[in-house]
Amino acid sequence: MKIIGTGKMLPSLSVTNNMLATFLDTSDEWIKTRTGINERRLLSDEDLVTLAAQASEEALKDAGLTAKDIDYIICSNVANSFVTPSLSCIVEGKIDAYCPCIDINGACTGFIYALDMAESFLKTKNINNILIVCAEEPSRFTNWKERNTSVLFGDGAAAVVVTKGDDLLSLELNSTSNYEPLYYKLEMEKTPYNRLHEDFQPLVMNGKEVYKLAVSASTADIQTVLREAGLSADDVNYYLLHQANIRIIETIREKLEQPQVKFPHNIEKYGNTSSASIPILLDEMRRSGKIKQGDVLVFSAFGAGFTTGACLFKWNN
Ligand code: ACO
Repeated sequence: MKIIGTGKMLPSLSVTNNMLATFLDTSDEWIKTRTGINERRLLSDEDLVTLAAQASEEALKDAGLTAKDIDYIICSNVANSFVTPSLSCIVEGKIDAYCPCIDINGACTGFIYALDMAESFLKTKNINNILIVCAEEPSRFTNWKERNTSVLFGDGAAAVVVTKGDDLLSLELNSTSNYEPLYYKLEMEKTPYNRLHEDFQPLVMNGKEVYKLAVSASTADIQTVLREAGLSADDVNYYLLHQANIRIIETIREKLEQPQVKFPHNIEKYGNTSSASIPILLDEMRRSGKIKQGDVLVFSAFGAGFTTGACLFKWNN
């Protein structure tokens, strides 16, 4: 596989920490020092489908393709107001594509899971171009009456177009069934028969537990993809990590004994955009000319499940 186009779209509304402090018992200082976040983009007048379609169109343009050239759409999303049909089917219509469409929910690791599926499809099906769209609105499942989770997230979408190639050198995925540290339970329709007591919850998170799981799993995944590709941590030009907390990124960096310049971040501007965070960062880095031909890139993410994944690309675009 190789990535031949990237795009992103963020909501226009920027919400600063100080804006949150007007109705939550929090402060700019607490949020900045604990997470690295200064502001986040939140959906107000726009909807997620529009963001996802615009990110997709930008990625197609970047790849020099039209929607008709796309053979498959994989959309990574944790939750949106359409439970069915899939977000990918809705995006397909918006961009005027015609191909099989599927949504996946790998939580914040969704982008790496989507890359893994795309790699398999490219190897086993007679197809050429796959659109991966990561579109997330975590602001719609946190509890805005409490400060623990609502300050951490931002909404956003990013897309990549992948085709056949040899840039993906290794990929590692893991899932451990352990939902207690991080989950969201959606309220479903009542029936005359269901007698179970059901407990619906906006996002519940044990921050300290997630922090520990994230650092150890992400470090281990990165070491695995390096080993599989026969490379060392020093051979990597950039580590694009899931943007959940600058302190998590910093701890992983220290464990890998690498300089800060190799760990780009934009969490300060966008917060945690779930599975969209790595492709948003990738798109920013490409468009600012930071990524050069021949660069070695590692992507690594973690999220609810507990899911984790990493992959290693040699960029030949
Ligand atoms: N403002 C002010 N105080 C707060 C806030 C807030 N927004 N949120 C929590 N606090 C308080 C807590 O109530 C606690 O108060 P107490 O000491 O009186 O009980 C205090 O701050 C310290 O809380 P800690 O949990 O010790 O803070 P910590 O340093 O662990 O930071 C954080 C919390 C930022 C959530 C951190 O644990 C973290 O980032 N964990 C990982 C989170 C993560 O990555 N989530 C997403 C991963 S998966 C995905 O992306 C969906």
